[in-house]
Amino acid sequence: MTIASIEDLRLLARRRLPRALFDFIDGGAQDEVTLRRNREDFSRLALVPRVLTDVSERDQSVTVFGQKLRSPLILAPTGLPGVLWPDGAAAAARAADEAGVGFCLSTMSTSSIEDIAKLSRQRTWFQVYVMRDRELTRDMMQRARDARCSALVITVDLQVQGQRDRDVRNGLTMPPRLHWSSLLEFGLHPGWLWRYATGPKPTLANFIGAGKGTDMITIAGFVNSQFDQSVTWKDIDWVRSVWDGPLALKGITSAEDAKIAVAHGIDGIIVSNHGGRQLDGSPSAISALPEIADAVQGRAQLVLDGGVRRGSDVLKALSLGAAACMIGRPFLYGLAALGGAGVSKALELLRNEIDVNLALLGRAGVEELDASAVTRVAR
Ligand SMILES: Cc1cc2nc3c(=O)[nH]c(=O)nc-3n(C[C@H](O)[C@H](O)[C@H](O)COP(=O)(O)O)c2cc1C
Repeated sequence: MTIASIEDLRLLARRRLPRALFDFIDGGAQDEVTLRRNREDFSRLALVPRVLTDVSERDQSVTVFGQKLRSPLILAPTGLPGVLWPDGAAAAARAADEAGVGFCLSTMSTSSIEDIAKLSRQRTWFQVYVMRDRELTRDMMQRARDARCSALVITVDLQVQGQRDRDVRNGLTMPPRLHWSSLLEFGLHPGWLWRYATGPKPTLANFIGAGKGTDMITIAGFVNSQFDQSVTWKDIDWVRSVWDGPLALKGITSAEDAKIAVAHGIDGIIVSNHGGRQLDGSPSAISALPEIADAVQGRAQLVLDGGVRRGSDVLKALSLGAAACMIGRPFLYGLAALGGAGVSKALELLRNEIDVNLALLGRAGVEELDASAVTRVAR
């Protein structure tokens, strides 16, 4: 199958993964209204090209938190990539490193902070939640600092886990278990089954050593008990006092919250609804961006996260004030379809699309993008 777009990688991932796993990455919360909005609202923005501007040399590099990225892309933090492909997080981190883009490791990853820090030349961002056990949270931050992670991301939109109907219907368990009912599904995907059965057993590697066992079921039970619904801005002040490097909050779509974040000394805001996986009905990330950019007035860097599937989406986000975009599913589809090579493919596709569309927009560099490059249309 020739891969021409992220959608092609998605279709290949759908063929190669057991249904429940594909739905785990592809799906969103409840009716998936927000998941769809993240895409649809990009199509409500049109790009306005300028002509006769000499675009013979083009530059899509950006600087985020003082770190230069060859393309304005950061792989979003995602849990359990090792279930899709053996050592999936390491494969993705390597692909990001080779492409010169950012990589944000999730606390819920199947590779540890130390493993990822060892293999990537560029420094990695680390995403964590303010967990019930503040000492454990502090310890994670210390490990991230020791591993020379270049930014800390606190995800703030997971007060509780969103309800994902597809996972409920599929009876999804982590790690995937061989039930009679799932045997046929697994049998239909022998490539995945072989890799899963023979590869390293995925587990929540960052929690090993927290004294809670090593297998995924035991650790997952512990981690679930760590989500803290009482977290407030006071806890963000505490994080700020512990972490002196660049600090970003992920999961903000309200301009008011963006202003409060700036007042609390936050360096970056990741405008995000968790890829439509948390509060269904919340606004799309791209529709929230202009108001947030307006509220923040350059006092923090903005990263758009959610719904990016084309280079043109990245250009729209940058025109509306984002310094870069995070991508979640696009790299996960690549990983599930082809391993690390699939992540590299996803990044190459987006890089080329950004380059071609930048030329067609009549801009030689992404720093030339501003609100004049986009206009709102009915569809
Ligand atoms: C399978 C999967 C696992 C995820 N795990 C995490 C996580 O551990 N922490 C986090 O902050 N966000 C997590 N996210 C959300 C992503 O970081 C990101 O916000 C989202 O994927 C962006 O939308 P997109 O997939 O349309 O690019 C996850 C998303 C997916 C699809």
